[in-house]
This record gives sequence, C-alpha cells and structure tokens, in this order.
Amino acid sequence: ADLYGASRRNSAGVEFGHAATLSALLDGLRAEDGTALAAKPIVAVAIDEAKPAPVLSPVDGRTVVGSVSFLSVEAVDAVLRAGQAAFRSWSATPAEDRARILEKMADLLEANRDRLMSLLSREAGKTLPDGLSEVREATDFCRYYAAEARRHFAEPIRMPGPTGERNELSYRGRGVFVAISPWNFPLAIFLGQVTAALAAGNTVVAKPAEQTPIIAFEAIRLLHEAGVPVAACQLATGDGRVGAALVSHPLTAGVAFTGSTETAWSINRALAAKKGPIVPLIAETGGLNAMIVDATALPEQVTDDVVASAYRSAGQRCSALRILYLQEDVADRMLEMIEGAAAELTVGDPRQPSTDLGPVIDAEAKANLDRHVAAMKKSETIRFEGRVPNAGTYVAPVIVELKDAKTLDREVFGPILHVARWKAKELDKVIEQVSATGYGLTLGIHSRIDETVEAIVEKLAVGNVYVNRNVIGAVVGTQPFGGSGLSGTGPKAGGPNYLLRFAEEQVVSVNT
Ligand code: NAD
Ligand code: ALA
Repeated sequence: ADLYGASRRNSAGVEFGHAATLSALLDGLRAEDGTALAAKPIVAVAIDEAKPAPVLSPVDGRTVVGSVSFLSVEAVDAVLRAGQAAFRSWSATPAEDRARILEKMADLLEANRDRLMSLLSREAGKTLPDGLSEVREATDFCRYYAAEARRHFAEPIRMPGPTGERNELSYRGRGVFVAISPWNFPLAIFLGQVTAALAAGNTVVAKPAEQTPIIAFEAIRLLHEAGVPVAACQLATGDGRVGAALVSHPLTAGVAFTGSTETAWSINRALAAKKGPIVPLIAETGGLNAMIVDATALPEQVTDDVVASAYRSAGQRCSALRILYLQEDVADRMLEMIEGAAAELTVGDPRQPSTDLGPVIDAEAKANLDRHVAAMKKSETIRFEGRVPNAGTYVAPVIVELKDAKTLDREVFGPILHVARWKAKELDKVIEQVSATGYGLTLGIHSRIDETVEAIVEKLAVGNVYVNRNVIGAVVGTQPFGGSGLSGTGPKAGGPNYLLRFAEEQVVSVNT
C-alpha cells in the first residue's frame, strides 16, 4: 500500500508528523534491526580484503550496524582494468535491455523497501518519512533513466543535410565512469549516479561515502540481481584516498561526484593534472541556500516551509535552508511563529514515528556544528535552541539572528537556521548578498507580488528556485535538481539532459 497516497512514479515530499500511518511499518522494520550486515568491495577481480571494521550507528554512537572492509588503494588499478574489459560488452547491450534491467532494479527496490528503510535509519540516522522518500527517489531514478536511455540511445538522430547524404548523430558510453557519493542520500544519490552512468552505456566503479558503505553494498547487490554484470558495476568501499586514486587513474573516462565544494575542487585539480584524454567531471556540491520573504507572504505558509526546509533530515540536505531573509515589517511576527513551530519538533531516535529530527551523521559533524553554535553565541542572538537526547550525535534545532547576513559565508550542514532582516526598498541589497556568496543551489521566495518574484528569479543564478513553498525534496523528472557556481557543474540530476553528459557523441555522414 502507498502509505502517503503519492504516485508510484514520483517521490512526492513527505511532511512531518505521519505517526499514525508510519506505525503500520514498524513491525516489519524492527524485524530487520538485529540483522548483522557486512559490506566489502564487490569487484570482478581477486583482491586482498582489508580487515573488517565495525560500522557504528549514529542513533546512539555505539550500536554496531555491521562491518566493512575497504578496498586498498593498490587494488584500484585491477578494478578499473576489469571495468574497462567489461565496457565493450555493456556498451553494446541494446538500450532497451539496459532500460529493462533498471526497471527490474526499481521493482527490487520496492520489494525491499522496508529492509532499506530500516538500514537507512540504522546506518544513516534517517527518520522513517525520510527513509521512505529516499527509497522512492532511488526507485524514480531507475525508472526515469530507463526511459531516458530508450529516448536517447535506442536510435540515432537523423540530421538534416543535402540530397544524397545521410547524417546521423548517436550517443554512446565513454568507458569506465567513477561515481563518488556522499552519506546524506546514501541510497538515492548513490544509485542516481550509478544508474545514469549504466543507462548511458558506461561501466561503473562506485565509491560510496565511508560513513554509509552497507546501504551501498546492499544496493549494488540488488543491481547485480537485476541483471547488471558484476564487472559492469563494481563497488569500491573506502574513504577519500580510494576516491582520489580512482579519479587519478588513466582508465577513468568520467567522474560523477556529489559532495562538498572543497572535494570537488580537489577532484577537478586531479583531473586537470592527468595526461591523456580530457575527462569530464559532473559535480554536484554544497549550497548556502537563502529564502527571501517579503511583507505580502502568508505567515502560516512561511512557518511551515521554513521549518521543513531548515530542519527536515536534521538540516543535512544540500538543498536545506541556511539563511532566511525576513522583511523588517513582518519579521517579529514571523519569527515568533517559526520559533513556536520549532519548539514542537522532536529530536531523537529516528526509528520512532514521532521523531522529526534524527542524529547528525557522526561525532565529527556534531563537533563542527556545536563549535559553530558556540561561536554564534558570542557575537549573534540565539533566538531558539531545542533539546537533544544525551547519547548519540544529536544536534538541537537552532535559530540564530545575524546582525549582518555576510557573517554566514559557508555552508553549515545541520539544523541551524540563520535569520537576517531587510528593510522595504532594500531588496536589491539582499539579492546582491545572496549572489555574492557564489553558491547557487536552492532559493526560496515567499511573496504574493509577481514583479518581486520575477526580479529575484531574473537576477539570481540559482539552480532550483521554489516560490511560496519549501525548498527541499526535488522530485525526479519534475524538478530536475542541481546548482551553479560553487554549487555544481550541472547537468541536473533527474532531468532530461543528465544522461547525455555521461555519453560521447558520434556523427556518421554517408554519401548514399
Ligand atoms: P565530502 O566531499 O566530504 O565526501 C563526498 C565523497 O567524496 C565521499 O565518498 C568521500 O569519501 C569522497 N572524497 C573525499 N575526498 C576525496 C578526494 N580527494 N577525491 C575523491 N573523493 C573524495 O562530502 P560529504 O560530507 O560526504 O557530503 C556532504 C556534502 O555534500 C555537503 O556539502 C552537501 O551540500 C553536498 N551534497 C550536495 C548535493 C547536490 O546534489 N548538490 C547532494 C548531497 C550532498
Ligand atoms: N534532491 C534533494 C532535495 O531536493 C537533495 O532535497
């Protein structure tokens, strides 16, 4: 049954507070909790495996979710060679067959939904609504890229030309694509990259985040069950050193990266230093996302949208709201309502249906966020700070009012909402401040004046703009997702141009 009444095709956003419907899932999920899971590299060559290390759950910082052994940096060469050897056969597999395999994968994800949700909670600290929408998003990626593979790769495109000449443009895979992903969407982003690269006819070496190897292992096992040959899609568990070795290797024909802007710079430098073919980089990175609210906005709507945008997933979404610009005339009233709503949020065990915010991913993330809040307490006004459980890596939802919006000049990846006021007639100054950050991922606008909305949209180079709604939960095929500037290179994931960046083009002109 579809608990939220959303379509099977699209992962419509799930709002806070679905306790009644979620409790129906709990028995199935709890049955999975005791399962011991082991992740290791899944590769098509013989390698020495590193000694397994425990994977600890962020839910309490102690419970062992399972174990992981990492690929060694020395083994990277053999793995890429195996991927290269498999390329000819996978790229020659008809687009229709590749599409059917991805659709089978979508069916397997749906059939394994409860297991995957349980694992998302235990390994990544996801609440049940977040786990459910993540499984749906992963499913959507598989079906969408299957359809896109048929659209772009099944038949060449006939180009216009003179009589007596046939001109055809076709797309094909590039070779071995390296897919490097973050921990915050360890299933959806991980599989989005991998399935796009496979749909376009590449073989793949996937390097998941070191914090979430088990869910990646389970996903790759399902892909193989769906029909992808092992050598066409290998799993390279490991940390940034394994990622860096994969990027720098001469056989790597393309890199799809999602993660921090700093890591994207490092990958870009490594690719630029390589001799040989020029290797494309698709990078989706961080954001310093703003929402601009004017005096015509509906306060109740703003309150709902700010709370969801800043605190859903404990603020650990690249799309999350970081800085709220409130027009002075309505700022006090709006802040009062937002503080009231934030005070209703429950922080705790993500497997409880009543929980709104689970833990942040690990102790390092918590320490960084705690340091940021401590620094803010010295110079800015803390308008609200929630409560957290004692054990585990929980961070309270916080609202900080800034004297000057420029104080926030980098992404703070957690449930910390920053607020700045602006005076009527100073909209251009706000636009200038948002633009000056250099990021361009998501932007929220709350205004009932069309001219205001149009002026902001026109002046800001931001990838995903949301008007009079929240700024999270882009839906595959409906809101293609990705930023510009410091936020990424594009093309947008879940959009009509994404597969093409994974492909090479060839034109054949025949004198008939
Ligand atoms: P991160 O950059 O620390 O790590 C991402 C991945 O890169 C991991 O797999 C890591 O092991 C690997 N890596 C680290 N150093 C590397 C190197 N030198 N060479 C190759 N690979 C390397 O990011 P994170 O902390 O895992 O994720 C959070 C960040 O991701 C945030 O900045 C967030 O905004 C961003 N993000 C962006 C999007 C988007 O679509 N724009 C989506 C999700 C997350
Ligand atoms: N695609 C995710 C969102 O829109 C990051 O929230």
